[in-house]
Amino acid sequence: MPHRNSLFSALSIFPLGFLWFICLPAEAALKTYQFDIQVKNVSRLCHAKPIVTVNGRFPGPTVYVREGDRVQINVTNHAQYNVSIHWHGLKQYRNGWADGPAYITQCPIQTGSSYVYDFNVTGQRGTLWWHAHILWLRATVYGAIVILPQQGTPFPFPKPEREEVILLGEWWHADVEKLVNKANQLGSPPNKSDAHTINGKPGPLFPCSEKHTFVMEVEQGKTYLLRIINSALNDELFFGIAGHSMTVVEVDAVYTKSFATQALLIAPGQTTNVLVHANQIPGRYFMAARPFMDVQLPVDNNTATGILQYKGIPNTVLPTLPHLPKSNDSAFAFRYNKRLRSLNSPQFPTNVPLQVDRNLFYTIGLARNSCPACLNGTRLMASLNNISFTMPETALLQAHYFNVKGVFKTDFPDQPPKPFNYTGAPLTANLKTTIGTRLSKIAFNSTVELVLQDTNLLSVESHPFHLHGYNFFVVGTGIGNFDPGKDAPKYNLIDPPERNTVGVPTGGWTAIRFRADNPGVWFLHCHLEIHTGWGLKTAFVVEDGPGADQGILPPPKDLPKC
Ligand code: C2O
Repeated sequence: MPHRNSLFSALSIFPLGFLWFICLPAEAALKTYQFDIQVKNVSRLCHAKPIVTVNGRFPGPTVYVREGDRVQINVTNHAQYNVSIHWHGLKQYRNGWADGPAYITQCPIQTGSSYVYDFNVTGQRGTLWWHAHILWLRATVYGAIVILPQQGTPFPFPKPEREEVILLGEWWHADVEKLVNKANQLGSPPNKSDAHTINGKPGPLFPCSEKHTFVMEVEQGKTYLLRIINSALNDELFFGIAGHSMTVVEVDAVYTKSFATQALLIAPGQTTNVLVHANQIPGRYFMAARPFMDVQLPVDNNTATGILQYKGIPNTVLPTLPHLPKSNDSAFAFRYNKRLRSLNSPQFPTNVPLQVDRNLFYTIGLARNSCPACLNGTRLMASLNNISFTMPETALLQAHYFNVKGVFKTDFPDQPPKPFNYTGAPLTANLKTTIGTRLSKIAFNSTVELVLQDTNLLSVESHPFHLHGYNFFVVGTGIGNFDPGKDAPKYNLIDPPERNTVGVPTGGWTAIRFRADNPGVWFLHCHLEIHTGWGLKTAFVVEDGPGADQGILPPPKDLPKC
């Protein structure tokens, strides 16, 4: 990582740093960053347009930290939009104030204002990422977070020669905010993207994109670590490299048992670390990303490419494309996800809850509701247990912490209003979706099992769900209706994958477990921006624990006001 030191100023703070030195096996440091949110003209696919960026860069800067560090990122907003930044996958223990989703944990940072995200990176190491968490600004406001293991602690896999961040994204010709506003006025879905990108670059299969191609130089015989992040808004992606297999070693900043594969499946919000051995005939090999979509819905089917280039090979050599699974290959998706297992070693145990205190069962539904104000007279909505979430005007965490009444209710039901054949024949019936800011209250330190069940309301579809403030264990998944008697005995309670974002398969279900040991208000939502916008979200209010150090920390002084 040659550019690390130029990206941050690492200060050991005294005397606090001295105390940490005694308490922790390795030295903890303070890492500071300045993020200026600014509009910049960027050209892709033969068109230039103004986009919102961090520090004028697209994708934004990588945040490099070490496990145990304290991080302070001062975000100054120079753009015309109010913004907030989410540090996706960081647990933010007792510290939801630094989590970032607008109107959930904080009011957005207004134009001309600043806010310091101040947090500790504890008990996590690997690849995560950051992104804007308001409107659709994350289309261009995103970047990687690399958490290195503590000094002296090696990776549980062979040391790579070098590492590289690979951010997969989506690009639109049009201004994304205008596009979404127009779609909302109509009550219909926004246009699909015009390209996929690798580190912001679509690659040479797109017009005017020769110069916008990500190239990674490798030397024969050496091994490289790729930190792959799906920062696309709406597309689950396959990723592969021609002629090279990849060894998966980590997902969502948790080590896995390693396995080799020709292709990865990665949903928006997820990260995957792989080792790649440059063991082929020196040449140029395409890396490629394109969508997985196993229902008849419009999707941007374009393939983004970058180049794995062996040292000394001239640019005139034409690269070959990798064989990726067919875009609707559900069987590959199922097999791939089955192979993901936590490392579960003595050093990195898998602490999956074996007993469950609270059982939750949430159905995922889409609906077309009447909308007199919309140009079409109807609008698309999405719901959990038939409730479509309405955004509050005050941040929920503040309302909870200061006991402000009337902002949200804690009556989100643990089950859908009435059971039905969720994945049976296409359901066109509108189950009368209701709207509301309804949350679920969870007792401190209780163990929770949440089964997310896809339904055929309007259409089945796969949904990557993300929970803030926690990692969870993916104990089971299947096609059809979840059946507790038949499915629960088959759970993996030994080495289930631990992550922060998980796909609920098309017409199927996924069961996750976690221990509610982090007090606060934590957002739970589909990470497809299109569905989040339609209301496919809710939040958990996790109560304070009895101990003096088990409650939400007091808010920082510069917390933005609504
Ligand atoms: Cu990566 Cu609430 O999001």
